[in-house]
Amino acid sequence: MNLINDEISRLDIEKKLNTNLFFDSPENLSIEWGMNYITFSQSKRIRPLLLLESNLIFSDIDEDSYVLASAVELIHTYSLVHDDLPCMDDDELRRGKKTLHVIKNEAYGLLVGDALLTKVFGVLSGYSKKEKLNGVLRYIHEKAGEKGMIYGQVLDMEAENKKIGIENILKLNHNKTGKLLELCLILGAINGNAENRFLDMLEELGCYIGHIFQLQDDILDIAGDKELMGKKTGSDETNNKSSIPLLIGIEKTRQIIEKFRVDALKLIDRLPSNGAFFRGLLEFLINREK
Ligand code: IPE
Ligand code: MG
Ligand code: MG
Ligand code: MG
Repeated sequence: MNLINDEISRLDIEKKLNTNLFFDSPENLSIEWGMNYITFSQSKRIRPLLLLESNLIFSDIDEDSYVLASAVELIHTYSLVHDDLPCMDDDELRRGKKTLHVIKNEAYGLLVGDALLTKVFGVLSGYSKKEKLNGVLRYIHEKAGEKGMIYGQVLDMEAENKKIGIENILKLNHNKTGKLLELCLILGAINGNAENRFLDMLEELGCYIGHIFQLQDDILDIAGDKELMGKKTGSDETNNKSSIPLLIGIEKTRQIIEKFRVDALKLIDRLPSNGAFFRGLLEFLINREK
């Protein structure tokens, strides 16, 4: 965890997110209160970090990097709020705290999620490299929308109470988790003026990281510690989800993770940086307990 925490403080991620996303003294249980509540709960900040580290491969980070980092964290945060709703995974605990629909009601959770997503537009209005904005918006839509993360959530919901094979679960995981991580790496690279050929490499790396992230999430759902994770375990089994460890067991799932790790390492070696952060991140994701 040190590598991640150290990088988060070195890059001042928490401070910048506070400036961009925190609302001062909102009325209790107002929409802004709910936005603060979930955005500033225990988050690993993996997505902003990925974006900034990708940017750093190519050039120094700047204010625009933090605008993009805030935008992806907002998208991730809204997706969790909606993912926990009764109509989806119906989870009562997130990041060690009661979920918003439990605190108030389902409409409240839905609307806080909507507001977080809508705030992305406000945040992006502060992006100063106007010549890059079209590309940024196009990628956000592509990776987070109906052909990206949301598509993954659709596949996840449709696979409840069904037996689907490994390939289809990998497709589901790629969309629901991998695509947002691909987006982070791509946006960082765009902001850092990377050549196009690096965008394809980073997209592939994001895909591998996404698989590793989700497979470990699915293992932790079975074998993790609720207190450490700050969310309920056994949620996938209760909801009859299609997850790879539920299908083939934890040990075999670890073998799949290892395959993705090897592929990711090969790509990291080809990046025009020493790759230390990304190698460390892989170790962190594979060994994480929360
Ligand atoms: C959620 O996947 C993916 C998105 C929110 C897009 P999960 O449903 O497995 O995530 P957790 O376990 O609730 O965090
Ligand atoms: Mg889910
Ligand atoms: Mg869930
Ligand atoms: Mg899960």
